[in-house]
Amino acid sequence: MSQLTITGTGSYVPGIPYTNDDLARLMDTSDEWIHQRTGIRQRHYAPEGAGASDLAVHASRAALEAAGIAPKDLDYILFATMTPDYIMPGSGPLLGAKLGAIGCPAVDIRQQCAAMIYGLQIANALLESDSAERILLVGAETHASFMPYDWSVLRRSATERAEGEALELANRHRALAILFGDGAGALVLEKRSGEARGLLAVDLHTDGTLAEKLHIPAGFRSHPFVSHRTIDEERWIPRMEGRDVFKHAVTKLPQSVRSCCEKARVSLSDVDVFVAHQANQRINAAVQEALGVSEEKVPSNIERMGNTSAATIPILLDELVRRGQVKPGMLLCFLALGAGLHWGSALYRV
Ligand code: ACO
Repeated sequence: MSQLTITGTGSYVPGIPYTNDDLARLMDTSDEWIHQRTGIRQRHYAPEGAGASDLAVHASRAALEAAGIAPKDLDYILFATMTPDYIMPGSGPLLGAKLGAIGCPAVDIRQQCAAMIYGLQIANALLESDSAERILLVGAETHASFMPYDWSVLRRSATERAEGEALELANRHRALAILFGDGAGALVLEKRSGEARGLLAVDLHTDGTLAEKLHIPAGFRSHPFVSHRTIDEERWIPRMEGRDVFKHAVTKLPQSVRSCCEKARVSLSDVDVFVAHQANQRINAAVQEALGVSEEKVPSNIERMGNTSAATIPILLDELVRRGQVKPGMLLCFLALGAGLHWGSALYRV
């Protein structure tokens, strides 16, 4: 493969964190249940009026600064989100405008939590075909807008609790609602020839027969696409068969990592760090066990961030880079599974 090289990383999360105790005011849940089942203690939510592109602009500026390039130097933007600012156009053009990268082609990709792995392969193809030299790959999410919450409760005193229909609505979706948080992560990707580092291999899969295991039923199937039915049938809130998604992740992700190692002709034990999507700490613990690697090789930030979908991998990578935990020569393995279902892994030599 080419020498797709990550030359800058950046990340951003909005506002103050919302703890599990905050959520216990909105639905019948507890810090103990959430932490035991998922590893999550808190997550951030985008404020009313902030879109994915607004979060992405902060992460992108940090990544561009780290790479030492200006927005005008970009010749492609890849924007990964399942919660775009508008239904159309995508968030890529909005980000380009906010950065001042006017005229730079911008593409939205929709692979949800697996988007970064797809994004790396697409970016690699653009670099290899000389269609681009400097690409900004961003993941950003504002899940807050599908949260089934009575937000006003959080603005009132800490003793206030949701009640009545608002409480019943949140309770119906509580297995999903506790998982997601908002944020953005960005990578600057450049082609560096003649170097023994960069993207080594990618292994990707999609199984659309499982699309309804995790999906938002509202869409252009209804006439008009927004109606009272959307509200009455709660079609704006994702539906998730959590156990099935869980089982798929713990079986398919280890298989993908092994195939990726074969493609790159490296051994599993050569991998220094597994930068894994953060959907549930128990998923990552099971994947780690199935791969037979040590816990230290699978860093986690889910406790502080929750699941930030497409933003998760670049946020985690940015934290590791800024803490000095990513060193030249290291072999990184990115792995993720998301709605679609899409899943896969990528190997990258720092
Ligand atoms: N608080 C308290 N109790 C709860 C909560 C909650 N927040 N949510 C569910 N429960 C209860 C249920 O009502 C149920 O009670 P019952 O046994 O009396 O009926 C019990 O807990 C078990 O419920 P399940 O939904 O079966 O819980 P499960 O053990 O499957 O855990 C979870 C749910 C954490 C969501 C888990 O299934 C999971 O993590 N799945 C994977 C999620 C995932 O990876 N999503 C991918 C996101 S990627 C993307 O592309 C967006």
